[in-house]
Amino acid sequence: MDDRLNDAEDESLAEETYRLAQQAVEVRELDFVTVVGKTEPVRIFELLGLVGEITPDTLELRDLFVLQNTIHWIKSISIEEKNGQIVSRGHFKPISSRRFLNDCHEYVFHFTKSGRVEIDRLALGVPYQDKSNIARWSHTSGRDRRCRGNTWFIPYETIQSRQKERPHPATFPVGLAEWCIKLHGVSRVQTMLDPFLGIGNSAVAARNYGVKEFIGFEVDETYLAEAQRRIRAQASLPVGQAGVSPAR
Ligand SMILES: C[S@@+](CC[C@H](N)C(=O)[O-])C[C@H]1O[C@@H](n2cnc3c(N)ncnc32)[C@H](O)[C@@H]1O
Repeated sequence: MDDRLNDAEDESLAEETYRLAQQAVEVRELDFVTVVGKTEPVRIFELLGLVGEITPDTLELRDLFVLQNTIHWIKSISIEEKNGQIVSRGHFKPISSRRFLNDCHEYVFHFTKSGRVEIDRLALGVPYQDKSNIARWSHTSGRDRRCRGNTWFIPYETIQSRQKERPHPATFPVGLAEWCIKLHGVSRVQTMLDPFLGIGNSAVAARNYGVKEFIGFEVDETYLAEAQRRIRAQASLPVGQAGVSPAR
C-alpha cells in the first residue's frame, strides 16, 4: 500500500467509504494513492467532522492549508539509562493538581499550502545510534545522519530572574523557531510572519539565520517594546551570532 495511506491516521476515509457517507460528513481530500490489488489509484480523505458541526471559518481554511507534519516540542524529559539511573533534562512549569500531569510538551503544527513541500530533513539530523544502519540503508549514502523525527527536545535556558530575563508567561525558545527555519532550508525562507510575537523570539531566530523580511503582530505594548528592544540588540551584532538576550 502507498506510504501516503499508511501515513493517514484513523481519521482518513478511502473513496468508497466517503461515497457512502458523504451526506453526513465534512472531509478534506488528502491524496490519490495506489493500493495493492487495485489497478486505478484511489482518493483518500481526511474526516473533519459531521455536517453542521464544522464552523464556516474551518471550512474556508480547509482549502487553504494542509497539515503536513505534527511536531512535539519537548520541554522536559526523564529517561531511564541502561544502568537504571534516571536522567532528567529541561524545564517545565509544575502543575499542582491531583488530576493533571505536569505539562512538558507543546504541539507545533506544520501547515503548508499543498502538503507536499520538500523539507530539509537532515538539516536537523542526528547520528545513528546503531552505526550498522549506515551501511544497511542505501539512502544514507554512507553518511552518519538520520532524520531526527518529530520529537524535538529544546529546553528553556536556565534563568535566575523570570521578570528580568523572561518577562512573558508563555514564550518558546529562540531555538524552536530556528529549527523551523532550518527544516524549510535556510536559503528558501524569504519572509517570516509571527501573528503572536510576544517578546520576539521568532524575530531573533529570523535575524540569526539572515531571513530578509520579518513581520510580527503583538497586541500588548509592554511585550512589543521588549520584542523591539531585543531585536535592536540583536541587530547590533553580526548575523548568526545567537543568544544576545538572556530571554529565550
Ligand atoms: C503565546 S504568546 C507568544 C509568545 C512568543 N512566541 C514568544 O516567544 O515571546 C501569544 C502572544 O500573542 C499576543 N496576542 C494575543 N492576541 C493577539 C492578537 N489578536 N493580535 C496580536 N497579538 C495577540 C499576546 O499578547 C501574547 O503576547
